Amino acid sequence: MVAVIFLFVSLFAVQTFVSSLTECPKCGNMDVPYPLSTDGNCGNPMYRIICNNGSLQFSSAADQKFLYKILSINPNEQKLVISPPHIEKNTCQSSDLSLGGFKIDENSPFNITSHNTVMLFNCSENILLSPLNCSSISQCIQYEERVIEGNGCRNKLCCTFLKDSSMTSHRIRLRIGGCTAYTSVINLKPGDIAVDAWSYGIQLQWLPPPADT
Ligand SMILES: *[C@@H]1O[C@H](CO)[C@@H](O)[C@H](O)[C@H]1NC(C)=O
Ligand SMILES: *[C@@H]1O[C@H](CO)[C@@H](O)[C@H](O)[C@H]1NC(C)=O
Ligand SMILES: *[C@@H]1O[C@H](CO)[C@@H](O)[C@H](O)[C@H]1NC(C)=O
Ligand SMILES: *[C@@H]1O[C@H](CO)[C@@H](O)[C@H](O)[C@H]1NC(C)=O
Repeated sequence: MVAVIFLFVSLFAVQTFVSSLTECPKCGNMDVPYPLSTDGNCGNPMYRIICNNGSLQFSSAADQKFLYKILSINPNEQKLVISPPHIEKNTCQSSDLSLGGFKIDENSPFNITSHNTVMLFNCSENILLSPLNCSSISQCIQYEERVIEGNGCRNKLCCTFLKDSSMTSHRIRLRIGGCTAYTSVINLKPGDIAVDAWSYGIQLQWLPPPADT
């Protein structure tokens, strides 16, 4: 009996703790750690993500309908990983090309971390003026040759670069006449050409919320 009461009290304590942080309920089998918010009644509304039929998604800008699947969330490091958009079959165009690629609002608490190696495909020659690595042994070539999705990009200029603070941390830019497709790999080492073992994704980080009152 004592044990039962203890259990009840413990459960009650856990419940109170959770609701004081207003953490959102799970989405499918994924936790939605605070401050991430799947609806107006939980989390912090600045950290809006979407729970769609049991799967978490990230919308790059408040007014955009394009959704990127959330693959994992690390609440201790305030990081999450989203899936890069797919490259449309038999083309070299990312599915977010018409939106200009991936772009987060400047005022958003999310940014793109410096652990992403971004590969841009089907680039115009103008890109050679930039500090990107567009050499014929650049890692993007491995992707074009060995990943089916990249096949439509073969034999077109591609470039690889580590996303770092010298570039904007809020967008991966695409446009007709620039580069028309991209992918992103997390924690890629220079010279690592084992494409099957690459960890595809765009890693984002969020700024902790100002203390809730
Ligand atoms: C929702 O998810 C389930 C399981 O993954 C799937 O079978 C179903 O087709 C999905 N429904 C919609 C409307 O996407
Ligand atoms: C470009 O990338 C390749 C493959 O990772 C590397 O061997 C080469 O040194 C890089 N070139 C420059 C200019 O960074
Ligand atoms: C490559 O880019 C050009 C111009 O930017 C575009 O017209 C073309 O459709 C792209 N190629 C593929 C295979 O998507
Ligand atoms: C992203 O935001 C975090 C948290 O404010 C910050 O520490 C980090 O330097 C930012 N990263 C970039 C690449 O701007």
